[in-house]
Amino acid sequence: MRLLVTGGAGFIGSHFVKRMLAAGEDVVVLDKFTYAGNPGNLPKGADCRRGDVAVREDVDQIGPVDAIVNFAAETHVDRSILGPEEFVRTDVLGALVLLRLAEETSARLVHVSTDEVYGDVEPGWSSREDDPLRPSSPYSASKAGGDLQVLAAVRTFGANASITRGSNTYGPNQYPEKVLPLFTTNALDGDLLPLYGDGRQIRDWLHVDDHCAAIELVLRRGEAGEVYNVGANEEHENAELARLIVDHLGVDPALIRHVEDRAGHDRRYSLETTKIRSLGWSPRREWDEGIRSTIDWYRDNREWWEPIKRSTNFREYYAKQYAARLAT
Ligand code: TYD
Repeated sequence: MRLLVTGGAGFIGSHFVKRMLAAGEDVVVLDKFTYAGNPGNLPKGADCRRGDVAVREDVDQIGPVDAIVNFAAETHVDRSILGPEEFVRTDVLGALVLLRLAEETSARLVHVSTDEVYGDVEPGWSSREDDPLRPSSPYSASKAGGDLQVLAAVRTFGANASITRGSNTYGPNQYPEKVLPLFTTNALDGDLLPLYGDGRQIRDWLHVDDHCAAIELVLRRGEAGEVYNVGANEEHENAELARLIVDHLGVDPALIRHVEDRAGHDRRYSLETTKIRSLGWSPRREWDEGIRSTIDWYRDNREWWEPIKRSTNFREYYAKQYAARLAT
């Protein structure tokens, strides 16, 4: 299969590329190489082109493909609060450009989305695939917009497209703006861990290998027009994650600092995952072991994240997001 992986130099995308190359597929990557795209995430010799999914000519440089898996997205909630425009461009317009290509060429398309499109989930409930979308942030609103374009294209144009909605994904090579690599690398540097609000927000944690296995399954066996929730049903409070990090690294727990909350912060995400499990998927990685081995990866791979944390983009972002929060 000739497979286009958009956003393939990012965190989850690059793990998926390695998985599909190992499966013997003919993979080509299209990546815009924003701050989050990193050629160092890809194996040497991988076929990788620079381009923007929101620009049809950029996508057309790839030539004919049998299938597309779309990871290309602006993904960080806090950045979307600082400036949402790029999110609409990549997450909505980019999805639309890829859909048009898929319609015209009859390529199979898997659109990778997120549990955040459902918004806050009340205690005792887990989101079903047909639950209403109630996004809370500019990021999740943009992802919801992309999802709706996919469903409309299936209905109106007969696109062969499916959607996966994954939960909070963790593992090696995640850009250190996200909570696990941020807290881990800060702890390794003796810096504070800025825990938003009371730290009792709940996320469902999914190892990147498990997430990629589910996406591959949906690519091969999923049905057009169907949405598949992908979550490990590992629901944990942020404060628990912060404690696990300081405990595992043996650093002072006083590094955990409660700071001003994120605006519009969703309290809880939770997914009902019967549908993906009935396709034959189940998570292999267990929370405690998966998180600890990921912390070890950041401890052992400073050369991967130190240049990122020293970069102008990261430092400017960190100052905007945290300087005032940590000063009080
Ligand atoms: P994040 O990794 O940004 O993922 P998402 O917002 O997509 O769930 O954040 C995960 C949780 O951690 C979320 O509830 C916000 C919280 N968080 C902090 O408490 N401090 C931080 O510095 C960051 C980045 C996140």
